[in-house]
Amino acid sequence: MASPGDGDWWRRAVIYQVYPRSFQDSNGDGIGDLQGIIDRLDYLNDGTPASLGIDAIWLSPTFPSPMKDFGYDVSDYRDVHPDFGTLATMDRLVEECHRRDIRVLLDFVPNHSSDQHPWFVESRSSRQSPKRDWYVWRDPKPDGSPPNNWRGVFGGSAWELDQASGQYYLHSFLVEQPDLNWRNPEVVEAMHNVLRYWMDRGVDGFRIDVMHMVLKHPELLDNPDNPDWKPGDPELWRQRWVNNVNYPDVYGAVKGIRKVLDEYPGRMAVGEVMGNSVHIAAYYGNERLDGLHLAFNFHYINQREPVVTPWEAPILALIARHAEEAMPPGAQPCYAFSNHDRPRFASRHNGDGNGPARARAAALLLLGLRGTPFVYYGEELGMLDVDVPEDRLQDPARFYSFGRDPARTPMQWDASPGRGFSSGEPWLPFGQAEINVAAQSADPGSLLSLYRRALRLRRGEQSLHSGAYHELAATNDVFAFVREAQGARPVVVAVNTGLAPAALPLPPGQWRVLESSHPAIAPPLAGEATLPPLGAAWFALEG
Ligand code: NOJ
Repeated sequence: MASPGDGDWWRRAVIYQVYPRSFQDSNGDGIGDLQGIIDRLDYLNDGTPASLGIDAIWLSPTFPSPMKDFGYDVSDYRDVHPDFGTLATMDRLVEECHRRDIRVLLDFVPNHSSDQHPWFVESRSSRQSPKRDWYVWRDPKPDGSPPNNWRGVFGGSAWELDQASGQYYLHSFLVEQPDLNWRNPEVVEAMHNVLRYWMDRGVDGFRIDVMHMVLKHPELLDNPDNPDWKPGDPELWRQRWVNNVNYPDVYGAVKGIRKVLDEYPGRMAVGEVMGNSVHIAAYYGNERLDGLHLAFNFHYINQREPVVTPWEAPILALIARHAEEAMPPGAQPCYAFSNHDRPRFASRHNGDGNGPARARAAALLLLGLRGTPFVYYGEELGMLDVDVPEDRLQDPARFYSFGRDPARTPMQWDASPGRGFSSGEPWLPFGQAEINVAAQSADPGSLLSLYRRALRLRRGEQSLHSGAYHELAATNDVFAFVREAQGARPVVVAVNTGLAPAALPLPPGQWRVLESSHPAIAPPLAGEATLPPLGAAWFALEG
């Protein structure tokens, strides 16, 4: 039973991202739901080696929403979308998770609501509305143009003119996602109460959507031009997003949120943030650690969107080095190699057809790095991006560098026509039938079996879940580091990103292979190990 008193659970945890529409459909409407997730909890953790063995789930938004941005446009922060179930189903999900020692994080979306949220409907109703200042309204410039030059993340101006009142409102994402005004104490209080509401219902914490954009420059100053922009670069890079992203006041909002979480023992928050490792580290609250418990570092996905981070040892090493150097004492990084906004790992790194091999190495790297790893559903199977026909595309934000539907397709439980996901027509098409849980469960050589073993090993190996990080090698092809906790045996984590075998000089002593992405490493080892092409391994010091 999960003990709420274990305030530091998230430090050792591996967190699994469930995209509720795509995990399991229980009522045949082709859309995944909360009951479906309950039905599949044993897959995630039933306490035996047959299950995946994760510690917590993060549910992408489950709230009532017109689904313009698939739940990131919330129209009621305190309820459940009928596609997913009811409040009672959510309560049962939390209870069933806790019975299995699985914690539950919800997706808190503070930067914007839906334009259908009663707050915005009221705010928009007139300039005199008592909720007018709950959103960011401004007069047009004298020539009628938007109040400043900010762009929306999904393209176009970040401002929309409301004809009726003659003012513009700010929307950093879709027009249907107006930005809340976090400079208004009433908004802050209302949003803090949303957190309390869900924690009172027993949830263990939150993933916070675009935390880095919640506070903007108080005078909404123009963003300066980006002198490095060249024709051919994404339009979004034309300006430097300094007045609406990582604006220093945002750290005050973070501390306010942390205080609310601290009212409840054992709860945590992980922020979705963008920026360099110094920006990311600041979300932890610097030395006092009075900010978020964790802030995502997405640099393994892309250091600068939309450029995919290459699977090359020196770059992989640099990302961890920078993250480690920037972390305040007592804080730990938080890495994801995939999520619902980016192409699947095995597709992203499949230019030469070796994506699946790299996915095996990635499993051991992600679970070996110091920090809290997030695993996106289906990554443990090596699910690939699915080619979604034009007439079945769902994501309205197709201009978000790339369409996001291919990475959001239903979980593949078996090879049957409905993949064990649904008895109805799925909301997005399925991928290749061969990639599924049933087939991989039966195969000890599968990626799923590797994930299961690695998760179990990580849980039992103190150095892996709690040890310090020391870089060992960062050559052209090999990235290796040692994890070591006081009083525990050290573990070396090593990845070969090259297409040829690579030598790794080991620290003194006899080393034994704990786990390996490829079977061909002979134990026990002293002096030097040979890593297979595109392989990775964990080595533990003997005796
Ligand atoms: C980040 C989320 O991950 C993404 O899916 C969403 O579209 C935007 N924030 C806006 O909420």
